Amino acid sequence: MRAEHPKLEAGLAALGIDVRSGTSLSELTSLGIGGTTDLLRITKHDSIPELIGLLEHHDIPYKFLGGGSNLLVGDGELPWVILQLAKPDPEIVLEGNFAHVDAAADLGRTVTFCAKHDLGGMEGLIGVPGTVGGALRMNAGAYGMQIGSYVREVKLYRAAERKIEILKGNQISFEYRHTSFGPDDMMLAVTLELPSKPFKEILQGIRICNEKRRSSQPLGQKSAGCIFKNPPGASAGRMIDELGLKGLSVGDAKVSDRHANFFVNAGQASAKDLLTLISDVRGRVENAFGVKLENEVVVWNA
Ligand code: EPU
Repeated sequence: MRAEHPKLEAGLAALGIDVRSGTSLSELTSLGIGGTTDLLRITKHDSIPELIGLLEHHDIPYKFLGGGSNLLVGDGELPWVILQLAKPDPEIVLEGNFAHVDAAADLGRTVTFCAKHDLGGMEGLIGVPGTVGGALRMNAGAYGMQIGSYVREVKLYRAAERKIEILKGNQISFEYRHTSFGPDDMMLAVTLELPSKPFKEILQGIRICNEKRRSSQPLGQKSAGCIFKNPPGASAGRMIDELGLKGLSVGDAKVSDRHANFFVNAGQASAKDLLTLISDVRGRVENAFGVKLENEVVVWNA
């Protein structure tokens, strides 16, 4: 999809939108998969309601992209433009035990920045790729913690209301890899309240989580993290492994040899390859265990 109408281009320029024509989503996703479209980078949160109005006026469908680390995007020319927040400077402002963080900030860098200022609690999230906004939207978690536990306030673009709103932490429900945000809401900024902890102690926790992750997950390979959510009381990775499916492949899409709930792009995999592999593995798990695995990865297929 191209944002090419002269009036639209003028409107985008007036809103300070940085348009990157013909961007390949394979360069913006950790799976390294995805077709081409125009990327619209937002430099001012306040421009979003007007931007959405402008796109709708010109019949241009759109999607919000975070860090692209839990996302499988379809192949070829994509039927929507992509909206993404540009990173502000600074991304994080500390105020006592509160960290005010822009949604575009890198999650890992946020964890280490807070740690250096003796603010802990998020050690488990250190190796989780992506932005703070992406982590917030899906309540990312690992090693017994989840980001939602620390959220005190969220600034977001509420798609249903067509405006920017501030929600208190207790107005949002955070569950396992799920939140009460609407599907088209766009995370803009968050205030986290973090426990005071000496940097050295936080570093120790970070090292332990890093070690656990390195020993069980294919970190150097292109993936979207875990493909399926764990069903209640069970591990999707263990089930897939028990069926002997590590190494199963469709084209260059492959079930990781290291962790069976990670599917990797081992070369030039297409979205079609990945989707076929996902549906094959889901079918086999359902036949063997009677459990229909739910996607954790978000799929944007044309
Ligand atoms: N297991 C196997 N074979 C495998 C993978 C796992 O037998 O190929 C076994 C492990 O030995 C272990 C059990 O299954 O006994 C659970 O494995 P693991 O500790 O790796 O945890 P997981 O349930 O597979 C979850 C999250 C990860 C998170 C880790 C650590 C989900 C879907 N996955 O994985 O999150 O990093 O715990 O807390 O909730 C993600 O969400 O993308 C993700 C990677």
